[in-house]
Amino acid sequence: MIGAVNTVRRDGDRLVGENTDGKGFMRALGDDADIDATGVHAVVLGAGGAARAIAVELALAGAGEITVVNRSVERGEMLARLLNEQTPARADFVAWQDMYRVPEGVDLLINATSIGLYPNVDDTPELDFDSVTPGMVVCDVIPNPPNTPFLRQAAARGAATIDGLGMLVYQGAIAFKMWTGYDAPVEVMRRALAAEFGE
Ligand SMILES: NC(=O)c1ccc[n+]([C@@H]2O[C@H](COP(=O)([O-])OP(=O)(O)OC[C@H]3O[C@@H](n4cnc5c(N)ncnc54)[C@H](OP(=O)(O)O)[C@@H]3O)[C@@H](O)[C@H]2O)c1
Repeated sequence: MIGAVNTVRRDGDRLVGENTDGKGFMRALGDDADIDATGVHAVVLGAGGAARAIAVELALAGAGEITVVNRSVERGEMLARLLNEQTPARADFVAWQDMYRVPEGVDLLINATSIGLYPNVDDTPELDFDSVTPGMVVCDVIPNPPNTPFLRQAAARGAATIDGLGMLVYQGAIAFKMWTGYDAPVEVMRRALAAEFGE
């Protein structure tokens, strides 16, 4: 485990720290959107806890290249270094100073910052949305509200989009299974969150 701990599981008489955020993201990507991370070039906006968890799981799932884009240079460089040193993926870091243009050849673009989270629902990452193309899959970690301006702008450019609700449901379901040994009622959880946060 090379991310921040957000749950624990029992292994014999030991308690093991786990992080389910990245695993939850991967399930939303694979189970809901049927996307295989093998060989993809992903751009991760952010280098905090969520970004780190997602980038690590993408790398362990076989992503070829991961570009970390972050405002704080130290945090961004640290994440790119961790990916290069501890996973098979190639990683680079871009300091986020002004309007970021997504490079050609990117398959997956993920907003893993806190931009757009309630109550700042109109905020959107500083991005040149004309660099978003129809072949891309664009994901947001923000679950509240799930239909963020970031996703709406990407959808308007023809990209497929995945919101943060699936990640939230699955990270909780994975933690539930670790705690109890039982499968979580994923569809009940999804409906409850959608009713609370909207769709
Ligand atoms: N859907 C889910 O299941 C799920 C799970 C976990 C987290 N989340 C969401 O993910 C978001 C991030 O959580 P976290 O734990 O990673 O937070 P965090 O550790 O505090 O990291 C926040 C990240 O956002 C960046 N950021 C914040 N405001 C920015 C701005 N105005 N411009 C550019 N970058 C900005 C920060 O950049 P700097 O390093 O430069 O400060 C940092 O990279 C939260 O909104 C949280 O609700 C969702």
